[in-house]
Amino acid sequence: MLTNTEYPNLVVLDHPLIRHKLTLLRDVRTTTRDFRQLVSEIAALMAYEATKDLPLEEVEIETPLERMGGALIAGKKLTLVPILRAGLGMVEGISALIPSARVGHIGLYRDHDTLNPVDYYFKIPAGEQDRAFFVLDPMLATGGSAVAAVTALQRTGARRIRFLCLVAAPEGVRNMLAHHAEVPIFAAALDRGLDARGYIRPGLGDAGDRLFGTGRV
Ligand code: PRP
Ligand code: URA
Repeated sequence: MLTNTEYPNLVVLDHPLIRHKLTLLRDVRTTTRDFRQLVSEIAALMAYEATKDLPLEEVEIETPLERMGGALIAGKKLTLVPILRAGLGMVEGISALIPSARVGHIGLYRDHDTLNPVDYYFKIPAGEQDRAFFVLDPMLATGGSAVAAVTALQRTGARRIRFLCLVAAPEGVRNMLAHHAEVPIFAAALDRGLDARGYIRPGLGDAGDRLFGTGRV
């Protein structure tokens, strides 16, 4: 786990298993099926780290042999909020660890010319604003989508928000720092930067297209 004084809002999760799977994910030869599987597995490994400070409450249970004190996650559980489309790929892996998590959806796509996010869908569980929210998107590029998603979520009253991505660009991390410094970002890697078309370099290409097999052949 790496923290960086230049980006106090960023934690890079550099566990060997995450680095291994991310390398396979970036490889242009990786098939759609494997890409989907890897996104899910990396998201699950990241969730393990990103939840390590969740508050616990003491409980008494009975084993087959005696009573003992145990611990359970306190209060209401998490809500996962994938940014459509690519964030959907991260839901299954995290849900496998946290089956009680609710799932909201935010629909955003990046305009190819302006790189600005265009929103088309917003649905989160009603009356659950005191839960912890994990906003999910494999890519943090300019940060426009992440900033818009967090702003929309905060408008509903959500306060405990974390952002989980696989690959972050410094530009996106700085954008989030400028607009939502209070939101911790967990990333599997911090890459070099953006190219002229707004793609993360070295990156992994278009995450949505690779996940759903909609890229050019
Ligand atoms: C990708 C990605 C993020 C966004 C990141 O989505 O999944 O949502 O771009 O870019 P930004 O940080 O510059 O906003 P895209 O717009 O390609 O939509 P899609 O998932 O529907 O393909
Ligand atoms: N969105 C992607 O899917 N990939 C990038 O490199 C940048 C934005």
